[in-house]
Amino acid sequence: MKSSSQTPVSSHRQPRVAVIGAGKVGSTLAQRVAEKNLADVVLLDIIEGWPQGIALDLMQARGLEGHDRSITGTNDYADTADSDVVVITAGRPRTPGMDRSDLIKTNAAIVVNAAKQAIAYSPNAIFIVVTNPLDVMTYLVWQATELPPRRVMGMAGVLDSSRLQAFIAMELGVSMQDVQTLVLGNHGKQMIPLPRYCTVKGVPLPEMTDAATVERLMERTRHGGSEIVGLMQRGGAYFAPASSIYVMVESILCDRNRLVSAAAYLQGEYGIEGLFLGVPCHLGREGVRTVMELSLEPEQQQALLDSATTVRQNIEIAQELLTRQR
Ligand code: NAI
Ligand code: 2OP
Repeated sequence: MKSSSQTPVSSHRQPRVAVIGAGKVGSTLAQRVAEKNLADVVLLDIIEGWPQGIALDLMQARGLEGHDRSITGTNDYADTADSDVVVITAGRPRTPGMDRSDLIKTNAAIVVNAAKQAIAYSPNAIFIVVTNPLDVMTYLVWQATELPPRRVMGMAGVLDSSRLQAFIAMELGVSMQDVQTLVLGNHGKQMIPLPRYCTVKGVPLPEMTDAATVERLMERTRHGGSEIVGLMQRGGAYFAPASSIYVMVESILCDRNRLVSAAAYLQGEYGIEGLFLGVPCHLGREGVRTVMELSLEPEQQQALLDSATTVRQNIEIAQELLTRQR
């Protein structure tokens, strides 16, 4: 039988997501994006052969998973050209006993280099930063790309909120689908889970259980990442992080305008200016569409200001290190 044409299944330009860092988080995200048929994926890593191998493995699963998305592995930023979204996961994860801020030294230079190279080939992309310490790395990417702030954001609040959602559902024995949660602040011990904005089918959490249980759930969320690092011993979480990034990428590419907690650039909201911090925001095709200002209790507002102070101090440390490395 003669084949009538050698043309691909579709010659229309497909949405493209570049994932920088093909480690646990990056490769799991690539799988989610392709298998949910959201976009083509270019997976880039510094290790030669590694992203190519993962991409080939994912390509070989396409028939079984029933999609025709293209997944490319590369060590060359030129292959990421014209991406709609760039997700930066490159860098080291924590090991047991480490705080996220201990990663500044290794990850700052990696992230700045990745951002500069990626923006050169995808000047219209929206950037989502994942590498830790998240709020600091997001600021460095914004500086390195020189993009308008709405086109750069960090992923953490979706994950922290989803951890709290899981803990509430597990504690109360209710469906995850009925639980809504919200966590603000930096991605670290100073994160601010908001019990008043946690509901089970609209019923505020404090009406569903006693104060000690509420506080136990909030505290477990603050340490949600290190609990997993402590169990796994060789790296950290990646399934829920990849799902969290996916939610953000999908809201951007499909212009869904979802309200999520993400590290967004603050310009006076919550009394904070000139840095990225986890706040509720709407995500659409242009990036962060709006930052929503909630009324916080005085101690929550103070906690957010303290969180901002820590991020600011860590940005200064990162910038000093980068200057010395130059
Ligand atoms: P991993 O070690 O599995 O993967 C990191 C990958 O980055 C490796 O494949 C490595 O070769 C690559 N890489 C290192 N330097 C690079 C460079 N210069 N250019 C390109 N690629 C480079 O780590 P994992 O578990 O995937 O975590 C990645 C980062 O994401 C860590 O910093 C981790 O702490 C962070 N993370 C953040 C979360 C959040 O909520 N914001 C959640 C989970 C992880
Ligand atoms: C997490 O929260 C390590 O930030 C990463 O799992």
